Amino acid sequence: MKITVVGAGYVGLVTGVVFADLGNEVICVDIDAHKVDAINKGRTPIYEPGLDELLQRNLEEERLRATTDLAGAGRESEVIFITVGTPPRENGEPDLQYVDEVARAIGEALNGYKIIVNKSTVPVGTGDRVRQIIEQHRKEPHEFDVVSNPEFLREGSAVHDTLYPDRIVIGTDNPRAARKIVELYAPLERPMLITNLPTAEIIKYASNAFLALKISYINAIADLCERVGADVVQVAKAMGYDPRIGAHFLQAGLGFGGSCFPKDVKAFAHSVQRYGLDPSLYETVLAINEARPRQFVQRIAERLNGLRDKTVGLLGLAFKPNTDDIREARSIEIMRHLLQEGAQVRAYDPVAMPNMQAIYPHITYCKSAYEVAEGADALVLVTEWNEFKQLNFERIKHLMRQPNLFDGRNLYDPQRLRKLGFYYYGIGRAEPPSSQNGL
Ligand code: UDX
Repeated sequence: MKITVVGAGYVGLVTGVVFADLGNEVICVDIDAHKVDAINKGRTPIYEPGLDELLQRNLEEERLRATTDLAGAGRESEVIFITVGTPPRENGEPDLQYVDEVARAIGEALNGYKIIVNKSTVPVGTGDRVRQIIEQHRKEPHEFDVVSNPEFLREGSAVHDTLYPDRIVIGTDNPRAARKIVELYAPLERPMLITNLPTAEIIKYASNAFLALKISYINAIADLCERVGADVVQVAKAMGYDPRIGAHFLQAGLGFGGSCFPKDVKAFAHSVQRYGLDPSLYETVLAINEARPRQFVQRIAERLNGLRDKTVGLLGLAFKPNTDDIREARSIEIMRHLLQEGAQVRAYDPVAMPNMQAIYPHITYCKSAYEVAEGADALVLVTEWNEFKQLNFERIKHLMRQPNLFDGRNLYDPQRLRKLGFYYYGIGRAEPPSSQNGL
């Protein structure tokens, strides 16, 4: 099948490369000529395991190319995916200007029957909006269909998630369009759900908001655990054995970041309100999440008797492991609070440091976790990268000015660290009475 994918960001590039690998002819379109050039040279503009090899293979075998020419690509293709960004406006409502622009360009270039598939995360009703824009701008009276096909991939495992999605949702009112998209996805042999446009559009937001709710829920439980001497890790484990609850997304910590959850929950709250319904459920999910970094820094400040001129070392900056993405990363907020309170900050992340340097150029960036620990009054685990799992804490203890460890992701065994002489703080993991005052 001949496919155009408009917007070569995370979703677009990964989708394009995977469809090419399944034997389709794919054109990736982006307005950024540098990005297009990089893709055509086999360089991916994002860090994503497995993507480079897949891109290079499909370029070599001439199943994929990139261009800035949307009209030209659209004319050649039967199916056009829209995978452009929908950044939030000030009020949390997604900005649909890029979706609108693409729809207009598709309308103007329409030269035969096309299926326009929306993969960008958009509020319910956007499919109809795209349909109207194309109708208004088409120069020739060709037919077309609009399909909603939400994307559920996670950063860091985007290629895997695209090859093995839990489900494929296809929303359209025309069975002819649905059949074509089913055909496209058939080689993946994954469960497919064919439904109407608004249902498909809601599925994406409802799923992300629910996952975000699970995270905020367990974080609220973690706060209670801390007050009463309970351990949230065990609470979550026991809850997770109940298949109606499930074990995933119950890790208490610094809360959720990234390009999806914060933005999508805000957008969903906005949509709900727009239709006259009460958004407070989603607002509470966001409020709990927003408070996490502030609360965490308060704990550090309490332990160190204030943060002025204290040295705090951060392990991990990315919003989660296996990505260089720092969008809405908890590290940004933690850094802001630490600096506001006068701390000196040292930090290390295996891949996200260049991105963070653009926001905080003046903190000390280190080459390893051990360098971060040098002279630190507190060491803070922010992102649970694999390389932080087996650190030599005896060595770290000797490097630090004071052995205080704040574990923002409950990665470490509290007992082991306390035995080694650390003061250990985990989220929602109260110290047992016998080990109070750690050191
Ligand atoms: C998410 C959804 O998982 C994906 O389906 C959707 O398409 C896009 O949004 P992503 O943002 O890549 O994917 O990351 P994810 O792995 O879901 O983690 C999101 C955030 O939640 C991270 O900051 C992570 O640290 C945090 N998180 C996750 C928790 O704090 N606790 C958990 O139990 C799980």
